[in-house]
Amino acid sequence: MCGIVGAVSTRNIVPLLVQGLQRLEYRGYDSCGVAVHAAEAAGAVPGTRLKRLRGIARVADLGAQAESQGLAGSTGIAHTRWATHGAPAIGNAHPHFSRGPVPAGMDGEQAAARPARVTLVHNGIIENHEALRAELLARGYFFTSQTDTEVIVHLIDSLYDGDLLAAVQAAVKRLRGSYSIAVLHRDEPQRLVGAREGSPLVLGIGADGKENFLASDAMALAGVTDQIVYLEEGDTVDVQLGKHWVVARDGQAVQRPVRTVQAMSGAAELGPYRHYMQKEIFEQPRAIADTLEGVEAVVPELFEAARNHAPGEGAHATFRATDQVLILACGTSYYAGCVAKYWLEAIAQLPCAVEIASEYRYRESVPNPRTLVVTITQSGETADTLAALRHAQSLGMQHTLTVCNVATSAMVRECKLAYVTRAGIEIGVASTKAFTTQLAGLFLLTLALAQARGLLTEAQEAEHLKAMRQLPNALQAVLALEPQVITWAEQFAAKENALFLGRGLHYPVAQEGALKLKEITYIHAEAYAAGELKHGPLALVTSAMPVVTVAPNDALLEKLKSNMQEVRARGGVLYVLADADTHIDSGDGLHVIRLPGHYGALSAIVHVVPLQLLAYHTAVARGTDVDKPRNLAKSVTVE
Ligand code: M6R
Repeated sequence: MCGIVGAVSTRNIVPLLVQGLQRLEYRGYDSCGVAVHAAEAAGAVPGTRLKRLRGIARVADLGAQAESQGLAGSTGIAHTRWATHGAPAIGNAHPHFSRGPVPAGMDGEQAAARPARVTLVHNGIIENHEALRAELLARGYFFTSQTDTEVIVHLIDSLYDGDLLAAVQAAVKRLRGSYSIAVLHRDEPQRLVGAREGSPLVLGIGADGKENFLASDAMALAGVTDQIVYLEEGDTVDVQLGKHWVVARDGQAVQRPVRTVQAMSGAAELGPYRHYMQKEIFEQPRAIADTLEGVEAVVPELFEAARNHAPGEGAHATFRATDQVLILACGTSYYAGCVAKYWLEAIAQLPCAVEIASEYRYRESVPNPRTLVVTITQSGETADTLAALRHAQSLGMQHTLTVCNVATSAMVRECKLAYVTRAGIEIGVASTKAFTTQLAGLFLLTLALAQARGLLTEAQEAEHLKAMRQLPNALQAVLALEPQVITWAEQFAAKENALFLGRGLHYPVAQEGALKLKEITYIHAEAYAAGELKHGPLALVTSAMPVVTVAPNDALLEKLKSNMQEVRARGGVLYVLADADTHIDSGDGLHVIRLPGHYGALSAIVHVVPLQLLAYHTAVARGTDVDKPRNLAKSVTVE
């Protein structure tokens, strides 16, 4: 959510900041901006001054403006925003300025014309911004935005006494909430100061030994540096030419490890695809194959001990001690958890609760220390999921495991065990390959738990693994159905409502299909467990209502067929995803796409793919911004 890039260099870093923002744009894209220490115009008083450019168009537009206006400087910060406080508008876009308190007698116009003293970009939410705003107003500061962020820049200005690091350290002590920030001061032209609490920030060390960078994600620095320091909660960082140092919450200088992070620039290119979502849908066979790579047997050791935990706290002991599973997640990841519940209860015979993280963290619940707490998250940075994990830990549940796509994320660091999926970077806001790889990881977790509990014979294990190894080919074959899905999408493009039905573990698949459709096409879509239809939603069914039904040939198919009859009898038009051996044929008001195989317990992983394609092609037909749907952002790092 939002993106930060900053640099201290000897060359003009504006193009580099813009390029970094482009890599982060998928995280928030309702406005963007850049600020630099710009050289004074010829003839002006020597020195430097802070200059900024902000816009509500896309980053490419900001880059073009920066070029045409000749914005240049060797120290700078940049930001792409997802609005929380204040509408997407230029006045609310970052970087924000503080020009100091307004002297008595000066009017607003004069106050706003003064040179900026401090400039700042911020990710996160400041919860006590109202109290701070009142305090700063009383001290003469003049606010120009509705953001919570603006209090930070004025606070730093008010505490500045010739040392930007000291001012930032003093200011963050006054903040409640979450933040990662990057700050410049007019009087310190080759210094950039950052701080983080509850929102990620990394330091990038330049290859030439001089340049240094800050970013909210290492990906912003791909191709610039692969030497990355992941800052920890409460850290502040002083970034200068050729040097940097990190100070921990207690005020002591600390050494954080420098890691070499594989450049991901290639992965962020579109290649022959029109959108990242399309690319990511088609990457699924590869993503699943990579995620399963090396799985020769289902050993608990697949679930690696995350960093900083003593040996002996391994997966095997944890799995044997487990008598219950609690899954915590949001959005698509939550639906992956809902599918896993069916597997865990049927195969590993473990009671499983799946909780929406933002609900769980605030409700009273009954903790069981023998619970395995499983978080599912693509980004590993989702604020609600992290908070839910910490809540579970605070209740005494210490057996924690994450299924996560980002090995360097806070979630992997904070859980004792981790299964890192290998979907590769996911740029499209609508999650696709992350979901299917999460499901693959969760199925392996189910088998590992079943094995640790002595519930899996070698033959059963071999059979499950054989089915898993066939997944990449099965997905490839389903992707070949795209032309048939496009004919459905052409019909959906004219609709404003849709229902999705499924039963058993295909109910969460239907929910995921509905989420995909609403997220990128803005068509109102709801999913129901098909047996619930007659308890209310059937009232919505008319000939104008398309009803997508996930109908694999499983034990519930006959029940599902009855539900489909209920829809047809009310004139509803059915769009059915069947297995090769499901006996349902197209007819009046009944459109069937038959998947090439029969996928047994793994059917959920395969049946979701046509639903992803349906949402994608409907969005393309409606002309929406597929990869950057309105109001949304990738990685929801604020509550
Ligand atoms: O990174 P996470 O998996 O924790 O993200 C959770 C949700 O924000 C995410 O799945 C969201 O629902 C997607 N945009 C859905 O496509």
